[in-house]
Amino acid sequence: STPAPLDLNNVQGDILAGLPKKTQTYFFFLIDESRVQAFRKQLATLIPLITTTAQVFSHHEKISQNKKDAVGRGVSPSLLKISGVNIVFSQKGLVKMGINDNIGDDVFRKGMLADAPTLGDPGTATSDSPDWVPAFKQGVDGMILVSGESHQTVAETLAEIERIFFVGAHCATIHEALRIVGDVRPGKEKGHEHFGFLDGISQPAVRGVNATNNPGQEFVRQGITLLGREGDDKFNAAFVDQGPNTRPSWALDGSFLAFRYLFQLVPEFQTFLKRNPIAGLAPDLGSELLGARFVGRWMSGAPVDIAPTHDDPALGKDASRNNNFRYAFPDDSKTQDRCPFAAHTRKTNPRADIEDLNATTANANEKHRIFRRGVQFGPEVTAAEAASGKTVHGRGLLFAAYQSNIHFGFQFLQNNWSNTANFPPKTGPTGAAVISGLDPLIGQNTAGARSMIGANPQSQSTSLTLPTWVVPKGGEYFFSPSIPALKATFAL
Ligand code: HEM
Repeated sequence: STPAPLDLNNVQGDILAGLPKKTQTYFFFLIDESRVQAFRKQLATLIPLITTTAQVFSHHEKISQNKKDAVGRGVSPSLLKISGVNIVFSQKGLVKMGINDNIGDDVFRKGMLADAPTLGDPGTATSDSPDWVPAFKQGVDGMILVSGESHQTVAETLAEIERIFFVGAHCATIHEALRIVGDVRPGKEKGHEHFGFLDGISQPAVRGVNATNNPGQEFVRQGITLLGREGDDKFNAAFVDQGPNTRPSWALDGSFLAFRYLFQLVPEFQTFLKRNPIAGLAPDLGSELLGARFVGRWMSGAPVDIAPTHDDPALGKDASRNNNFRYAFPDDSKTQDRCPFAAHTRKTNPRADIEDLNATTANANEKHRIFRRGVQFGPEVTAAEAASGKTVHGRGLLFAAYQSNIHFGFQFLQNNWSNTANFPPKTGPTGAAVISGLDPLIGQNTAGARSMIGANPQSQSTSLTLPTWVVPKGGEYFFSPSIPALKATFAL
């Protein structure tokens, strides 16, 4: 039967809107085996604290009103106090709670540790995932995400949540497995990930949720993120190979979260750029261009497909222009004059590179779109680290992405695209395949060797050997239930 139209009060806020992220604490927990019933009762007390998508959108409106008012009064806008809370569960957590329905996603059911070889994490059958931190190797049952405009607000909210579950007391129903604090970077680096590039620019818009889109920003159907909505492949008989073709009714309006704990070797990355500038340019520009061609965007966010030779900060911050490209200028599909085939943004959203492959499909890329909600963690690079070119303090990206099908979403982007040397499929003048190599940021394989072509626009078939700069130290696949499901199926 067709579900009732989407109600944004039913959907957890991080999925479609993104919890405010100045600072976020990821609290990974284990449910106490002997107190599952008590935990499920206490969950009912947590539910009113959970932030919905409707609440996040109304907060966005308040912020923009607050800004307008401040501008009108000639003062700088005050920071509105806000706290956001979401809760998600792993397959292990569902089983522990006695929720045994199969949600219909085999990758989720097996969990991320079992998926590590497919994702290309270093390790072999005998030494599995040596880089992973113990908490993710042992597995976690769930995660509570608490966000806010200040550490103080997050600490207060977290303390309230810990009281609900008696965390730390002898009768605790959940135990802390790992706590990770993420912070937006300070000052002018706000919104930039640790390598220095503006992030979070390209996200899909959702039909019936976002009223408008920016030029170049594509609309996807609600079912690309939300289970049970139009576009959710599990309601389409063509996808039975990905698991059962049905979902339990309580899965409606839930979403799968792929969380990755990604460490970035920033001084090593910067040193590589400095030592390998693209020849024929002033050294600084040569280094900057190499970095831009690794990412597909300059540090300001300006896409190399629009600005191939110089950064253009005005373009980088202009939402009406900074996503309006398709790797489809006359020769883009065949040459790497503007953007290497292997560049991070081209690998993870190939735009016209794959949409043109099958003209009969309206948008071959739609089912591979994900909603990225990550945040940075760790301190700024110190002077000593910059001088030595060696990382001393751990820092990186708490990668978090929502989708209705993990295989077609995060797993596909990592395994079939970023880690796959002959993607996107290209042929040279003689018809022979052009092997683009790995995504220079995140492309990896269990053996560890990495290279790409096209880094240098003047010598597009030259292979460049790439050291590793992103080290995955674990993660998990989670399910983010709807509010009605939390009330009726999860809580007692
Ligand atoms: C875009 C950095 C990991 C998927 C971007 C952008 C940057 C970036 C700077 C451009 C900004 C934008 O278009 O929004 C990083 C870094 C990573 C990382 C530093 C690791 C530490 C990942 C992973 C995935 C991923 C693991 C998925 C497997 C994407 C996607 C886009 C993107 C889908 C948007 C591409 C587009 O639509 O044009 N990333 N990323 N990223 N990244 Fe990542």
